[in-house]
Amino acid sequence: MGIALGVSGVHVEAGAIADPDVLFLPFPNPLRPHNGDSTTVAQEILTMLEALLVGDEIAAVIIEPIQSDGGIIVPPAGFLADLINTCRLHGVPVICDEVKVGLGRTGELFDFQHDGVCPDIVTLGKALGGGLPLSAAIGPDHILNANPGSALLTTAGNPVCTAAGRAVLRVIKRENLPSRSGALGELFQSAFVSAAEVEGIADCIGEVRGRGLTIGIDLVTDLESLTGNRELARLTVYRAYELGVVCYYVGGHVLEITPALTVTESELVMGAQVLARAIAQARAGEVDPEKVREFAGW
Ligand SMILES: Cc1ncc(COP(=O)(O)O)c(C=O)c1O
Repeated sequence: MGIALGVSGVHVEAGAIADPDVLFLPFPNPLRPHNGDSTTVAQEILTMLEALLVGDEIAAVIIEPIQSDGGIIVPPAGFLADLINTCRLHGVPVICDEVKVGLGRTGELFDFQHDGVCPDIVTLGKALGGGLPLSAAIGPDHILNANPGSALLTTAGNPVCTAAGRAVLRVIKRENLPSRSGALGELFQSAFVSAAEVEGIADCIGEVRGRGLTIGIDLVTDLESLTGNRELARLTVYRAYELGVVCYYVGGHVLEITPALTVTESELVMGAQVLARAIAQARAGEVDPEKVREFAGW
């Protein structure tokens, strides 16, 4: 448990003890590049990675194809492919964490497919069990059948959960949920941008981004500095909840929109309008910060 949290940048930043054998690299963030230059940010990170790989001491590279809890950060197209190809040149396996964005959410069954590549190991969870506890690590047997890999046996292979998982996969395929998610994501984004105009809040939206039904609304103090507006995010989430829309914020100030893939078009449009209204009301001071403080983490 300690080790699992220790490889997660979000948890380490929040205070979990970092695994001493893990090195963290920046994630390419086109809106706020760590090197101040969105045109070179991906290449700079790949160069940093390559310098580590030549040392022959890296066992594996773990990456989320979209950094979700970090703020729904979508890397530049081709970054994941370049990363996987670089690792392959050095014989280092890549683990793609698709726990949050996999299984059709981003418009493909796996998000890595957008870059036309396949990692060595994929991790799945959340939607896989359709509400029942189920996760999976999919990879080559020379890695997964190694002795130290056998753990978590109490819950492994539970017949009820695995039956649910098989049913989930059947529904995703039968109802063509990946391509549906792609289309619905576009619908949400355009409905939200229109609603933001109507509510007069375009100047506090730094960016609406995402793929398919993984969408982030980046709330900022102003469009010039693009400083994240954490307080507005907290108040908005609370007001949206009062108005009947449940969402959360990630990366400090980014509203995370990840509805069920079975959401209807009208629900999505209504959700976009309610969120825009919640932002407007939160900004206008209509949400009592004291009330929100009672909710830890909001
Ligand atoms: C991207 C990502 N990976 C892994 C996990 C952890 O999954 P689990 O709770 O199944 O260990 C989470 C949980 O939120 C997640 O968001």
